[in-house]
Amino acid sequence: MTNDSPVKAFLVVLLTAVICSSLVSAAVVILRPIQLNNQMLDRSRNIIKLTGLVEKGVTPSDEEMLELYRGMDVKVVDIDRAAFTDELDPLSFDQRRAVNNAELGIAIPSDLDAASLGRRSRFATVYMVLEDGELDRLILPVRGTGMWSMMYGYVALESDLNTIAAATFYEQNETPGLGDQIMRPDWQAQWKGRRVYDEAGDFRFAVNHGKVEPGSSTWLYEVDALTGATVTADAVTAMMQYWFGPHGYRYFLEELRDQNGRVN
Ligand SMILES: Cc1cc2nc3c(=O)[nH]c(=O)nc-3n(C[C@H](O)[C@H](O)[C@H](O)COP(=O)(O)O)c2cc1C
Repeated sequence: MTNDSPVKAFLVVLLTAVICSSLVSAAVVILRPIQLNNQMLDRSRNIIKLTGLVEKGVTPSDEEMLELYRGMDVKVVDIDRAAFTDELDPLSFDQRRAVNNAELGIAIPSDLDAASLGRRSRFATVYMVLEDGELDRLILPVRGTGMWSMMYGYVALESDLNTIAAATFYEQNETPGLGDQIMRPDWQAQWKGRRVYDEAGDFRFAVNHGKVEPGSSTWLYEVDALTGATVTADAVTAMMQYWFGPHGYRYFLEELRDQNGRVN
């Protein structure tokens, strides 16, 4: 076969395509476990920050992080039944994909959809730090519609299931310098000690439109405004209102409180 032969040119192109696609497929297969491990590490890093198990300023190694993560009690909550469920595996359940699944997701009634979500998963993966079999912290996933993007975070509650132990946002696409201030560690640190519900059990948490004075009547329930980003800040308040309201975790938290936080 001569070099000018169209058959030879075709065979060379075909061979190159087969070799390249095999290389890409092999890379996908080989890199998948690494990618999954990185996802797991990323998730555990965000959650471990909220557990109180790591001293401030200490950065655990990847191995220590995964060890702490595995040491937590991870469960799936059936939000509408206000109870834990064993139907789904907490380590593989994908809450984000569940939102648009016909069986795993549900539409949110518009009068209750404070966070403008449209739909949510019927189930949520929650993380528990236990001390002598009793609940010390409960970490709940939350999300809300910001000015431009979906904001994803976690809220950790103390054992009273009302006082916020810590909170974090780990994914959002709000404007840098404005809405993305929700990622500021000093602002997130203010959430510690704030309460979600007041003495009467009504939802009270909010991002204030100004500065919250220590000792003021709002001090127990509110964190400072985000300068120049009231739209995102109000969306954070709305997100909390939804997730800690009657269509969110409210009844589940009441059930858990009735059981004195005993989860075993
Ligand atoms: C290009 C552009 C991007 C903006 N991005 C945000 C944002 O991500 N979050 C936000 O709350 N406000 C954002 N704003 C400002 C809002 O329109 C609004 O002015 C602001 O939230 C009001 O906050 P303030 O009462 O603290 O001034 C943006 C404005 C512009 C022009």
